[in-house]
Amino acid sequence: TRAMHDTLFLFGATGDLAQRYLFPSLLRLLGDGLLPEDFRIRALALSGHDTEAFHDILRPRLQQAMPMASQEDIASLLRRIDYRSVDLRDVDSVAAAVSDLVDRRCVSYLAIPPGLYISTCEGLAKGGALAAPARLMLEKPIGSDSESAEEIITTIGQWIDEDRVFRLDHYLGKAAVQNLIALRFGNTLLEAVWNRNYIESVHILVAESEGVDGRDAYYARSGALRDMVQSHILQLLCMVAMEPPASLEADRIRDEKVKVLRALRPLDAKHAARDSVRGRYTAGSINGQPAQAYQPPEGSDVETFAGVTAHIDNWRWSGVPFHLVTGKRLPERTTRVVVTLKPVTHWLFERPQRAQAAPNRLVFQLQPQENIELGLMSSLAGPEWGALELQPLELELSVPTGLHRRIAYERLFLDAFNGNHTLFVRDDEVRAAWAWIDSVADAWKAANLPLEPYPAGQWGPANAVDFLPQGVDAPDSGASE
Ligand code: BG6
Repeated sequence: TRAMHDTLFLFGATGDLAQRYLFPSLLRLLGDGLLPEDFRIRALALSGHDTEAFHDILRPRLQQAMPMASQEDIASLLRRIDYRSVDLRDVDSVAAAVSDLVDRRCVSYLAIPPGLYISTCEGLAKGGALAAPARLMLEKPIGSDSESAEEIITTIGQWIDEDRVFRLDHYLGKAAVQNLIALRFGNTLLEAVWNRNYIESVHILVAESEGVDGRDAYYARSGALRDMVQSHILQLLCMVAMEPPASLEADRIRDEKVKVLRALRPLDAKHAARDSVRGRYTAGSINGQPAQAYQPPEGSDVETFAGVTAHIDNWRWSGVPFHLVTGKRLPERTTRVVVTLKPVTHWLFERPQRAQAAPNRLVFQLQPQENIELGLMSSLAGPEWGALELQPLELELSVPTGLHRRIAYERLFLDAFNGNHTLFVRDDEVRAAWAWIDSVADAWKAANLPLEPYPAGQWGPANAVDFLPQGVDAPDSGASE
């Protein structure tokens, strides 16, 4: 489908996200003929560049991000981009920076700190850029707690209706994440056991080997819980735990996700030390390369590692712990969902004894490669009849990497331009996610939960081991499976 909206106002155009992902995604869409003929982009940021200087900054970044792109495509994208410098705290400056283009159908994309959302949107409204049918794309995070999120949602809601707001969580744009819905609801095998009767526990791990580097100002106010758990990890949790939607329509899926979030049991300060862990990396090494400690500015005590055991209080999941874990400067980059099933009801075999039998495990690795593993017990290697000896057997399915898969932001741009909300976060989802995150942050504060140091390159602090899935090794080994 061709995109219909033909003017993009891109705020935060000199920032890391725009330069690394947003412009390269637009380049790919353009190269594939998926943008309208007269599509144009106004890049906006604080720096006082002119358009030419901005092109000179962007050109090498595009070449670096998309080495296969042709010079013609790059030139064609740059021809469509003009640059305006703007002061986002100044409503009139924002209005003036867009008003000459707003008679066209436009989309405004805010890749800026959430503290600037309200003044920027007020300027957009004043400049006419939020009047129907204009659209608004907002990066995560929406605020930094329930209160600030509520203020952003309701204030901006005066200027633009929910059905024209597209809140991004780029994990939803990843094909591997969408595949969780396909696997769950396209297979009898999975859905039949997908509940408290058969599932013992679920781990959701988003590990990164990269550090905070270069994003100190934002990160020092957010930390792992607000940066990763509130958004990406809770979205993954929704995909894993939601009820089958009535249809694949955007609001039917989002209805089910919000029900999961509302059923999350608030973290109790009394159990904070048992049910959660927070850590921060110190100096260490990753793949033999020395890595520096993270030192946030004075006054900030943010964590770079967070583990929380969540409980979903509903019929399907009552009693099943969901261990949610994320950290920076861990030994490897991997995102995985690990579902561990309960032991069989009755054990017939002598070897191994029941206690030694490995539980069935389903591992969905979403990054860096997509693959699915199923751990079974089998006697394939058993010597003779009459002496059945079971051993763990791993079935592994690698999803072919040769498939042409759009990077997350390409998909999300296209969907927003075409008005499809399925992969965007609705206002009530944002509220419900923050409500639970607030309970965790409050419990940490009330319990004075210590910030445990861990050397860069290890799997978090020593007590993180209780939250990590099997196969990710103990913190002191630094090894991966
Ligand atoms: C962003 C977070 O939303 O996601 C970053 O702000 C994090 O801290 C990034 O590094 C991870 O995204 P991906 O796609 O590399 O897993």
